[in-house]
Amino acid sequence: MIEVVVGDITRARVDAIVTAANESLMGGGGVDGAIHRAAGPRLARAGSELAPCAPGDAVATPAFDLAPVRYVIHTVGPVWEGGGYGEEAVLASCYRRSLEVADGLGVRSIAFPAIATGVYGYPPAEAARVAVTTLRSATTPPATTSVERIELVAFDEETAAHLRQALT
Ligand code: APR
Repeated sequence: MIEVVVGDITRARVDAIVTAANESLMGGGGVDGAIHRAAGPRLARAGSELAPCAPGDAVATPAFDLAPVRYVIHTVGPVWEGGGYGEEAVLASCYRRSLEVADGLGVRSIAFPAIATGVYGYPPAEAARVAVTTLRSATTPPATTSVERIELVAFDEETAAHLRQALT
């Protein structure tokens, strides 16, 4: 159900790829920039029609040039401000809402980046724990989901180690 993959998320062979966006959904740097470059300019146009996306929420657009990926699910992570400003709840919501949106679209497989751990500064070990805890609770009965396979895509070995540690 949940596996850790090291690499570029734009190469994931899944139904839906999650991007770590900002509220404008117009693209940016990091993983968002990579996904927008791979999906093409239609992604920003489609995103701008759904913007703004609040931190912790998630919205889906087609994946355009990322085909055979069908959807890009845009979610906005919390900016890390030390941990006392509800950042954990917002990050958990990113994973939960992205899965809900995927389920609503009948998505079977989904790839997540390490949301908020780059520009937004969320500590990677903590973020990995939140990701795994949230995804496990959202995919364990009585919770139901159409999603059968979740890839946690790490761009570097350090992030992968945190994710693997969180899965033990
Ligand atoms: N594939 C997988 N993961 C990637 C890729 C990629 N091609 N490129 C970067 N990453 C990883 C980063 O190494 C980091 O671990 O994605 C994780 C999230 O980092 P960011 O992309 O910086 O996302 P985030 O911290 O959520 O900041 C979001 O940055 O790009 C802008 O528009 C975006 O304003 C938003 C903010």
